[in-house]
Amino acid sequence: MFNISTKDGSFQLDEKENLLDALKRHNYEVDSQCCSGFCGACRIKILSGKVSYPNPPIAFVAADEILPCCCMVEENLNLDVSMRVDGQPDLFIPELFDVYQEK
Ligand code: FES
Repeated sequence: MFNISTKDGSFQLDEKENLLDALKRHNYEVDSQCCSGFCGACRIKILSGKVSYPNPPIAFVAADEILPCCCMVEENLNLDVSMRVDGQPDLFIPELFDVYQEK
C-alpha cells in the first residue's frame, strides 16, 4: 500500500492497482488516450517519490514527470495534480443530458 499525496488531498494505492485508474476513481483531473505509454496524454508532474516502467514508454517523459497509465509505483508519491472541479465524469455534458431526458 502506498500513500499518494496531491495538492487536494491523499489516498491509499494498492500495490497492484493502476495509478491512472486510481487517480480517476478519486476524481482527479488526468487526461488519457492510449493507456499504454504511447501518447503521453496522461503525463503528470511528480514532486517526490519513485515509479518504474515494466516496459519503457514510447512517449517522452521528463525527469519530473510520470505516465500514470503504465508506471509501477515504487514508493509513496507526491503528485502535482488537482481534483476535477465539476465532480462529473469526463464525457458528461449537462445540455446533452437534458435533451436526452426530454425524449
Ligand atoms: S494515456 Fe497514453 S501514455 Fe498514458
